Amino acid sequence: MTDRETAFAAIVTGSSRGIGAAIAAALAAQGMNVVLNGSSERSLAAAEEQARALADRFGVEALAVAANVADPDEAAALAAAALEAFGRVDVLVNNAGITRDGLAMRMAAEDFDAVVDVNLKGAFNCAKAVLRPMTKQRHGRIINLSSVSGVYGNPGQVNYAASKAGVIGLTKALAKEVARKGVTVNAIAPGFIATDMTAALSEEQRAHALERIASGRLGEPEDVAALAAFLASEDAAYITGQVICVDGGLTL
Ligand code: NAI
Repeated sequence: MTDRETAFAAIVTGSSRGIGAAIAAALAAQGMNVVLNGSSERSLAAAEEQARALADRFGVEALAVAANVADPDEAAALAAAALEAFGRVDVLVNNAGITRDGLAMRMAAEDFDAVVDVNLKGAFNCAKAVLRPMTKQRHGRIINLSSVSGVYGNPGQVNYAASKAGVIGLTKALAKEVARKGVTVNAIAPGFIATDMTAALSEEQRAHALERIASGRLGEPEDVAALAAFLASEDAAYITGQVICVDGGLTL
């Protein structure tokens, strides 16, 4: 897949840093051309820097596109940019995500909506935007970032857990819709991964998490990226509608 004409093309949302940046790198390492994405000016600049680094390191084409995935028009423009640059979209990784934690009793309605809008509706918006090209090509891989919080629940995260559980429902329903068209849809449910998102945890929360993780360490973004790269590959063609935890044994 090193030939630019025939290389597969991937979109990774929220790939300016953390898990998204690691997934974009893992896909570029497989020879895919990649569209990185950030929603703010700052994250776009970081995504542009990532894109240059991937192009230099792996000899692929990589570009960064600003889009807020919660907005259906911006999600459509993101897919259009990938199609224009590469003529195809083979992989979509719905990675963009936010938290607005707090106990339900005190949670503002806006904090519930904001998290659902980005994490769940954002995944729908982007999936919808790539379904036509993927089904027309009869080749596609949609990989959605859920969370163990969406599988098992987590106090202080009713908004986040609901959005990530919603992502699982979306994954399963969409997998059934498009399986006969060569498109697979799977979800990854990470546990505690060392990124800016978890850097916000207190020392106490971190220590409590470590106690519960069987392998005794937080995960690295690359631990999640390795699974995403496999699910994006041809070897994963017969795996669809699945939710796979990457959590070092946290939920055992
Ligand atoms: P992060 O906070 O480091 O990165 C999130 C990325 O999403 C950033 O690039 C940010 O710019 C982007 N983003 C935020 N809102 C956006 C929007 N509206 N449109 C486009 N991009 C947007 O987070 P991290 O830790 O790398 O998480 C990535 C994904 O993995 C998220 O969906 C998160 O919920 C999920 N996850 C992370 C876990 C962890 O322990 N870090 C655990 C379980 C799931």
